[in-house]
Amino acid sequence: MNFLIMGPPGAGKGTQAEALVKKLGIVHISTGDMFRSAIKKGTEMGLKAKEYMDKGELVPDYVVVGMVKERIYQPDSVRGFLLDGFPRNVVQAEELDEMLKEAGLSLNAVINIVVPHEKLVERTTGRRICRSCGASFHIMFKKPQTEGICDNCGGELYQRSDDNETAVNNRLYIYEANANPLIGYYRAKGLLLNIDGDQDINKVMEDILKNICA
Ligand code: AP5
Ligand code: MG
Ligand code: ZN
Repeated sequence: MNFLIMGPPGAGKGTQAEALVKKLGIVHISTGDMFRSAIKKGTEMGLKAKEYMDKGELVPDYVVVGMVKERIYQPDSVRGFLLDGFPRNVVQAEELDEMLKEAGLSLNAVINIVVPHEKLVERTTGRRICRSCGASFHIMFKKPQTEGICDNCGGELYQRSDDNETAVNNRLYIYEANANPLIGYYRAKGLLLNIDGDQDINKVMEDILKNICA
């Protein structure tokens, strides 16, 4: 099964993806996580991407498309995958269709997490991420057992460099400019599942599973 999870910054894509891939035994492909890992390794692509990410802007399409293509063609993707944060616009969606077609693959569903705009700033600015395993927490909504320490691996928690109010507002603005055409694109293909993301984390998960298994 191949899925795509979309929604605004802070909607809960990563949080739900982490649990979903464990449950379904599929691969999590998060373009944001891939860029953060490239930044950590100090690769040329990472350094270039950081300039855009810190400002809350989109990394150019050709960079993201090339990176996703390489990842989807890795042998473990045959188990099924969950794309998180890609595509972000119709150009990327068309490129994805093209690469899936070439690989003889297709999407089973597009999970669109819907959360009111006013909730998104507090979700992103309160988020904390594990430096070692990438798990995400929240200072109010998903507190780690010990402050500053990851429940999964004991790693140190940090705040993403684009989780400040200026970058978040820009990310939200860019999301809103691209969302409707992208949602329309997948609705027209009959793949879109709207999920209410303004509920308890576990309830959102339940709704996703109910919908994708229906
Ligand atoms: P990316 O890392 O994908 O960031 P984003 O899209 O802004 O989304 P987030 O990761 O911020 O939100 P999320 O929905 O995953 O929320 P989470 O589950 O963590 O991309 C970063 C950047 O990379 C982009 O800005 C761009 O520069 C670049 N990029 C990436 N992909 C690209 C592409 N395709 N093209 C071009 N550029 C690209 O949850 C947020 C917080 O809320 C957490 O603390 C969590 O604990 C909490 N939370 C989650 N669910 C709930 C709930 N139900 N109730 C209460 N709290 C909750
Ligand atoms: Mg995320
Ligand atoms: Zn960890």
